[in-house]
Amino acid sequence: MHIAFFNPQGNFDRRDSCLTEHPDFGGQLVYVKELCLALADLGATVDIVTRWVDDPGWPGFSATEDRYPDYPDNPRILRIPCGGPRFLAKEQLWLHLPEWVAQLREFYGHRPPEFVTAHYADAGYSAVLLAAKTGIPFTFTGHSLGAQKLDKLGMRAGNASGMEDLYRFSKRIAAERLSMQHACRIITSTAQERFEQYAHPLYAGAVDVDDDSRFAVIPPGVNTRVFSLDAGTQDAAVHDRIARQIGDDGGPFIVASSRLDEKKNILGLLTAYAGSPALQRQARLALFIRGIDDPFTAQSTLSPSEWLVLEPMLATITRHEIADQVVFLNFQSQGELAAAYRYFAKRGSVFALTSFYEPFGLAPIEAAACGLAVVATANGGPTEIFADGSGVLVDPNDPADIAEGLGHALHRQAAYAERALRRVRSEYTWRSTANGYLRVIERGLQNRAGGPPPGWTVGPLDGSELIERYLGAG
Ligand code: F6P
Repeated sequence: MHIAFFNPQGNFDRRDSCLTEHPDFGGQLVYVKELCLALADLGATVDIVTRWVDDPGWPGFSATEDRYPDYPDNPRILRIPCGGPRFLAKEQLWLHLPEWVAQLREFYGHRPPEFVTAHYADAGYSAVLLAAKTGIPFTFTGHSLGAQKLDKLGMRAGNASGMEDLYRFSKRIAAERLSMQHACRIITSTAQERFEQYAHPLYAGAVDVDDDSRFAVIPPGVNTRVFSLDAGTQDAAVHDRIARQIGDDGGPFIVASSRLDEKKNILGLLTAYAGSPALQRQARLALFIRGIDDPFTAQSTLSPSEWLVLEPMLATITRHEIADQVVFLNFQSQGELAAAYRYFAKRGSVFALTSFYEPFGLAPIEAAACGLAVVATANGGPTEIFADGSGVLVDPNDPADIAEGLGHALHRQAAYAERALRRVRSEYTWRSTANGYLRVIERGLQNRAGGPPPGWTVGPLDGSELIERYLGAG
């Protein structure tokens, strides 16, 4: 079976060299890559179809085809051009996607893939454009939906035009609606994602969340080649480096790993820690932020939005005089990250993810696979992952609750770490995710119509009226 994974944004390369260096290079790329590798292991022929980029600022994406070193034949990474050679953030891609689809049709010629899985709204829209021409069926995996982002950013009639300029919600919402209408299945990571996120008024009429035939809930997995209890090749070097940096007193840490993004709420974690002398006596705090060795001299290397997140964190550290208790660590790859998790697991540490909302929550299961106990946000996916009590859930808006949850998890670290590890191994592997996708794809192929419905044309992407009505009603 030949499956194409559409993911125009972000791009992929053989070394995952840009992961977390840009908001478009994060969890979604890990998801698509790992799922594709697991599908290849199960015998499917897989293409990761992304955008060709020839840009000195983003080297490594200029070849039109690429492969992963341990998978020399399958999957292929196909880079299809659109909108010129420069890197474009996902918000800038909309107008160029018809060109992307035309180019990929030309690339495939008479041997197109049998099935497409589309990731995020830009891919969903592209899959709709392709389906309208060819009838190739597709699934839609939203990863993150525009309506929730619009709410979270506090979009109102008064700031709508500025927000639109930045985030292009009118395009994104329209693309999501089209994707929901025409996908043979919508794939979500959790039931909560299906029933809460897709029920947003901005998607009314595009999808019925109570219709089981429209959805498949398939949780993602953890990359057990990297995230496990087994030492990797980088462990010795990483462990030495950490020991040198933190001064080896042997005690436990609270560990958080995140990009500098407001929604990750690292400030909430820091506020909880700074406000609790008891917690400070129990553990120190290790913040893994890629690219940052010394946060107090990092401003010139950060984007303005990243600095906006870091600045109040540094102010909190200074105000509460906890600089000795908080260490910033910079890891460049998943291998280094896993090595660091194993280091801190041996010290009886706890991983914390206190995002305001987390659609799924891959990071805590990766940490758990390396032996850390987990404290996670009670908003979003972690409530399902840890529904069996294998992790501690906290209210990310309440520093006292975060502090209490962390204290509790540190106190019972061994029991929580063991339960979380068991949970991950039994429920969250990419092989089981791949099997879930295969089942959906096989069903989609059985039900396919054989060609596009006659006369189907995809109109311009414009959800501005819907958004105006929604904001007006709020
Ligand atoms: O991996 C990072 C990422 O998953 C994107 O690729 C994803 O699409 C995005 O986070 C979230 O997007 P947004 O902030 O636009 O909702």
